[in-house]
Amino acid sequence: MVSSSPAGQAQWSSKAAFILAATGSAVGLGNLWRFPTEAGTNGGGAFVILYILCVVLIALPLLLAESLIGRHGQRSTIGSAVHLARQSGASPAWSLLAIVGLIANTAILTFYGVVAGWVIYFVGTSAADLAGAIGAGDPLRGAYAEQSVAQIQEMMPTLFANPVLLVGLQLAFVVLTVWIVARGVKGGIEAAATWLMPAFFFLLIGITVYAAIIGDFAAALTFLFTPDFERALQPGVLSAALGQAFFSLSLGGGAMIAYGAYASRETNLGQTSGMIAFADTGVAIIAGLAIFPIVFFVGMEPNAGPTLMFQTLPAAFNAMPGGAIVGLAFFVLALFAALTSSVSLLEISVGWVIEKFGVGRAKAAIGIGVLVFLVGLLSALSFNVLADQRPIPFIPGFENATWFDAIDGVTGKLLLPLSGLITAIFIGWVADRKLVNAETGLKGGGLGAWRFLIAWVCPLAVTAILVLGLFPQLL
Ligand code: PHE
Repeated sequence: MVSSSPAGQAQWSSKAAFILAATGSAVGLGNLWRFPTEAGTNGGGAFVILYILCVVLIALPLLLAESLIGRHGQRSTIGSAVHLARQSGASPAWSLLAIVGLIANTAILTFYGVVAGWVIYFVGTSAADLAGAIGAGDPLRGAYAEQSVAQIQEMMPTLFANPVLLVGLQLAFVVLTVWIVARGVKGGIEAAATWLMPAFFFLLIGITVYAAIIGDFAAALTFLFTPDFERALQPGVLSAALGQAFFSLSLGGGAMIAYGAYASRETNLGQTSGMIAFADTGVAIIAGLAIFPIVFFVGMEPNAGPTLMFQTLPAAFNAMPGGAIVGLAFFVLALFAALTSSVSLLEISVGWVIEKFGVGRAKAAIGIGVLVFLVGLLSALSFNVLADQRPIPFIPGFENATWFDAIDGVTGKLLLPLSGLITAIFIGWVADRKLVNAETGLKGGGLGAWRFLIAWVCPLAVTAILVLGLFPQLL
C-alpha cells in the first residue's frame, strides 16, 4: 500500500473512519462493565461527578496531546514520541511515556481477554436459552426461565470453578483480536469498527429504552446523579475516578497515539478529541442508565463489584418480559464493544514490533497474542487455581489483590496515570510549542485553555491523585 507518511504507515480511509475506530477503542468493557462496577462500589453520584471532572479537566486535554504525538510522528507509539522529542531538541528519553504505555496497555489486554471470555460465555448461554424459548413457542419470556435466581447466580461461580473452560474462552477472544489486527489497519481494525460500532449503538439505545420502560429508572437516576460530597472526598474514590477516566478513554501512552498516527494531516484533532471524549462519556452514562434501572427493579444491590454485569443482570433479565432476547442482545453488544477495544490494545505493541524488528503484521500479531494469552493465564486462574496468591501485598491498597486485581489496579491506577503525567509535562513544557500548537487544530481561547490544562492542571492533579491514592493517610 502506498502512503504519504514518512514511515510508510497505513492511514484511515477518512476522518469518520478515524473517529469510529478511536471511539471503538474508547467504548468497551470499560463503559459497560468497569464503569458500573466502579460507580456501584464507590457510592454512585459521588463517583460520577468526580469522573466527569476528571474527563473534562484531565482526560480530554490528554486525549488531544496523545493523538497529536501520533499524528505528528506517523510512527509507532514509541517511535512517534522519540520523533517529537528529537524535533523539539529534547532527549529521546521522553519516549518513556510510550514505553510505560506500551507495557501497561499490553498488560491490560491480558486481563481484558479474560473478562471478554466471560462475555463470550454469556453470549453462548443466552443464545441457547433464546433458542429454547423459541422452541417452546414463547420467545418473549424472561431469560433462563427454567432456572431460579439462585441457579442463575450460580452460573458465574460454576464458570470460575472450571479453569479449562475459562482459559478456552480467553483463548477464543485473543484469537479473534489477533485475527482482526493481522488483517491490517484498514482491512481489519477499520472494517471491524465500521460494522460493530453502529450495531453497538443501535443495541445500546434499544436496551436503554427497554430499561427505562420496564425498570426502575427513577432509582437509577437518583443513584447515579445524587452527589455525596463527603464520599467524594475519600481518596480511594478520587483515584478510582481518575483511573476510570484513563481506562475508559484508552489513555496512558498507547491507543490514542497509535490511532492518531493513522489520521491524515487534514484531521482537526482538537475537534475529533472532543467528539471521542463526548461519545465515550455518553456511552458510559447511558450504559449506567441501561443497567441500574434493571438492577433496582429486581431489588438487587448496585455494589456487587466485578460480577455485577454477569450475576446481577442475567438474574434481572430472568424477571423481565422479553428478557431472553434482551439478555442475548446485551451480551452481543458487550462482545462487540470489547473487540473494538482489544484490537487497539494489541495494535500498540504490534505497530511497535513491526517498526522495530521489521517483521510482518500477521507474525507480530500472533507472537504478541501468544504472549498476552500466556500472561493472561494468571488473571484467568485468579478465580480458581491461583485464588490464594497475593502478588503485591507491599503496595498500599493491594494487600488483598489477586493477580487479576493487581494487574487491573496497577495498570489503571498507577501506570496509565504515570504515563499521562509524563505526557502532560512533555507536551506542556518540553515539546516545541509552535509545532504542538499547529497540530492541535485549536485557535485563540480554545488553544489557551488547552495549554493551561495540559501544562498546569493535568500534571498537578494527576500527581496529587497518584500520591493520595498511594498514601491515603495524607488526607
Ligand atoms: N477504553 C477501553 C474500554 O473502555 C479499554 C482500553 C484501555 C482500550 C486502554 C485501549 C487502551 O474498554
